[in-house]
Amino acid sequence: MRATIPEAGRPHDELLETMAGFREGDADYAGGRTWSMVYYAGDEHHALMEQAHNLFLAGNALNPIAFKSLKRMETEVVQMTASMLNAPPDAVGTMTQGGTESLLLAVKTYRDLARARRPWIRRPNMVVPETIHVAFDKAAHYFGVDIRRARVDARGQADVRAMKRLINQSTIFLGASAPQYPSGSVDPIAEIGALAARRGLPFHVDACFGGFILPWLEQLGVAMPVWDFRVPGVTSMSADLHKFGYAAKGASTIVYRDMGYLRHQFFVATDWCGGIYISPTMAGTRPGGAIAAAWAALQGMGRDGYLALAEQAWQGAERLRAGIGAIEGLRVMGMPHSTVVTWTADGPGVDIFAVADLLQERGWGVDRQQRPASVHCTVNASNLPVLDTYLDDLREAVAHVKAHPELSREGDAAVYGLMARVPLRGLVKREVLKVMETMYGPEGGEVDLSADAEGDKLAALVRKYGDPVFSAIDRVVALRDRARDKLGL
Ligand SMILES: Cc1ncc(COP(=O)(O)O)c(C=O)c1O
Repeated sequence: MRATIPEAGRPHDELLETMAGFREGDADYAGGRTWSMVYYAGDEHHALMEQAHNLFLAGNALNPIAFKSLKRMETEVVQMTASMLNAPPDAVGTMTQGGTESLLLAVKTYRDLARARRPWIRRPNMVVPETIHVAFDKAAHYFGVDIRRARVDARGQADVRAMKRLINQSTIFLGASAPQYPSGSVDPIAEIGALAARRGLPFHVDACFGGFILPWLEQLGVAMPVWDFRVPGVTSMSADLHKFGYAAKGASTIVYRDMGYLRHQFFVATDWCGGIYISPTMAGTRPGGAIAAAWAALQGMGRDGYLALAEQAWQGAERLRAGIGAIEGLRVMGMPHSTVVTWTADGPGVDIFAVADLLQERGWGVDRQQRPASVHCTVNASNLPVLDTYLDDLREAVAHVKAHPELSREGDAAVYGLMARVPLRGLVKREVLKVMETMYGPEGGEVDLSADAEGDKLAALVRKYGDPVFSAIDRVVALRDRARDKLGL
């Protein structure tokens, strides 16, 4: 039945109890069984976030004159971030409501900078490694900038020569990651920075994910490429407070080397009947709570608090890497630059999506990836108490899948397997859009991804053709990959 607003307001205790009930079945982040989405630094820190957020719950950073408190905290958060990222004294920036917004703004800023300085460009493009966050695709889609993706090497790092080959007269900036999400490697920022400087192009480093952990890992002696404003060619960076900054959700930063760049991010409308309107970011109204909680997170945690959490997360990541490396049939992908641990099959014989299904059945959060089929874990201090149980469950799941290859064609594994492999990406997109329409329909329906689901074209394909479809697709993809390698694409 359609939800409607009740005629009379309900008693507060009663509705809070109802809402607490809604949380049943949500990801168990405090218990450490999820590997993404929530960065949990313990109950005491969580309580500080709640209090700071509540203090500014009603505040609106849309108007920095009416809410000087929020403007002050925003400036201080940006400057604390800039100094952590080794930005020069002239560095400036804004807070945003998340990594995606920071990246959308970077693309918009460089598009508008190019419009001002190189107005003859008709079809601007950006050159980025293929592992860069999908928010750049979203930005490309929103802002009419083509995205040119360069291959990465076997360690998951950008191939700088491939990036160089993709630059043309219409390239407006380069992008790279520190680290990239899929396997946690840091791109060779110094080399890309040098390339950008030689070509006179701006260069954005997406440190949304790693910005608030790499500084402490470096301090602990973890080897990684130089990745921040120490590289002269880097003109902007994004770093999320609501990830390893352990702030409340809705908090990221974008920092530019100087105002010459940030200026192009701003929006000013002079002729609206509502008055002259200025807006520094994508949103109009900007929630005060997220800004306040971010300020409180940085001040409450301090450098030593971040360092301690980073050390624990790193030790956890190392234990997980070693444990997974010892499981026959699996291997860890990427470089150990961060606390991301991504595992995949080491040769044929282990269907990763079937292993993922078994882990999910045992109550683990599972982040499935494609190209190649893999599982992504972001290790945090909160995962430490359950790491050994995870490794035991994983070992058993791999052994079970090896003994039961038919599991590839059942449950979610069948559909994920097909979606990852099917060369007809238009069909996949249509099916995924249908899933979204179901979820966002009037009743907010739940979806069933399994191979037995009714009315799903991909599931129907799995049911009808099973093995032949999988192996035909695998053959085509192997041929395509061999051809790509030969041509160096
Ligand atoms: C490297 C990277 N950039 C950007 C984002 C997007 O961040 P958000 O989900 O806050 O929009 C993520 C999210 O995981 C990320 O890993």
